[in-house]
Amino acid sequence: MKGRLLKLCVMVSGRGSNLDAIVRSIDEGKLNACVNVVISDRHDALALKRVEEWNAAGGKRIESFVIERSSFPGKDSFDDAIASILEEREVDLIVLAGFMRVLGAKFAARFAGKIINIHPSLLPSFPGLHAQRQALAYGTKISGCTVHFVDKTLDGGSIISQVAVPVLDGDTEDTLSERILKEEHRLLPETIQKLAANQIRFG
Ligand code: GAR
Repeated sequence: MKGRLLKLCVMVSGRGSNLDAIVRSIDEGKLNACVNVVISDRHDALALKRVEEWNAAGGKRIESFVIERSSFPGKDSFDDAIASILEEREVDLIVLAGFMRVLGAKFAARFAGKIINIHPSLLPSFPGLHAQRQALAYGTKISGCTVHFVDKTLDGGSIISQVAVPVLDGDTEDTLSERILKEEHRLLPETIQKLAANQIRFG
């Protein structure tokens, strides 16, 4: 495994299976990174439970924060609260792993080239919410997942890596999501490692 050790902030809103895939890749020596901090915009995110369990198991401690939009008067102050956590910790890369909120243009500019997102479709097809449902409704035969740099547009920043996943006859939103998720768990850690090893340039 080559490259410098990347200090990561992983941002989540829910289940945290992509966060789990990152932590597993680090533990298995496949990813030269450490998760310094996890930020959730939901206090009830399962991802936070995972962090609690890892910390209780005595591995390298991961700091976590809950920053909920409803605690702030406006979007800018919400984004600023997140930005100040990131700046204090001098993280190298911010990974949106199931973070279901759009960060503002000012935030995107402040961390330009240092924020990546994983999305469950082959962008530019099916940006936004429920990408797998959109793919089924359109009738596409190939979907997949994309890791891209985040800019001020919705799921519109430059594409770093993608994997195609077939849509099968009889697929439901659940079965397609599950097939895509399996690929996400491989693609996201591999892409981060390529950044660590300078095989991909920071945006
Ligand atoms: C993943 O499928 C991710 O691609 C998607 O949310 C899920 C989070 O799962 N993200 C988006 O749709 C962002 N637009 P996880 O919490 O188990 O990692």
